[in-house]
Amino acid sequence: MLCLKEGNRMNEEITLRPATMNDAEMLLEWRNDPETRKASHNTDEVQLDDHISWLSLTLSNPNRKLYVAEENGSPVGTARADFSDNVWELSWTVSPKARGCGVGKRMVAALAKQISEPIRAEVKQGNISSARIAEHAGMEFERETEGVLHFKRAALE
Ligand SMILES: CC(C)(COP(=O)(O)OP(=O)(O)OC[C@H]1O[C@@H](n2cnc3c(N)ncnc32)[C@H](O)[C@@H]1OP(=O)(O)O)[C@@H](O)C(=O)NCCC(=O)NCCS
Repeated sequence: MLCLKEGNRMNEEITLRPATMNDAEMLLEWRNDPETRKASHNTDEVQLDDHISWLSLTLSNPNRKLYVAEENGSPVGTARADFSDNVWELSWTVSPKARGCGVGKRMVAALAKQISEPIRAEVKQGNISSARIAEHAGMEFERETEGVLHFKRAALE
């Protein structure tokens, strides 16, 4: 994938579509990428069988929404929203090939915009790009606990 980091692609539209079982292999590849593992709460490599079970449960869970972000019809990232205690917790991964091109910012902002309830996100300290992504999506830094930064946005009017 060609990324013109000077900014030409920064305004390309990102669309979000619900993930399906057909995305399993791609999502596993992104999940097991070393940078994604480093940024995750659980840093273990995920095995295919476990991933298939997780994805199948995820797709049938009404309190979880999993999206694939596309740019010009190509998948460039994934974002998840988990609902509990009246707040959606957002998490995200950009395809290793599409990083550094503004995909994370546009993808998470697009997801945040379509959720009217409060949203939050947890970002490991040192993950500067993700802290910027959370802020760009309208969340504010709340507190840091044990190396994790907590971001939150109130419900939309
Ligand atoms: C972290 C991650 C989501 C960033 O996605 P991305 O599409 O590359 O990020 P963006 O291009 O939208 O950039 C977001 C911000 O980080 C900055 N940034 C991007 N790459 C950077 C880098 N390598 N070093 C420092 N800053 C960087 C951008 O300039 C931008 O900041 P700005 O608002 O000041 O312009 C992506 O690298 C990834 O998926 N990493 C592994 C998984 C992960 O960390 N998930 C998030 C868990 S909370």
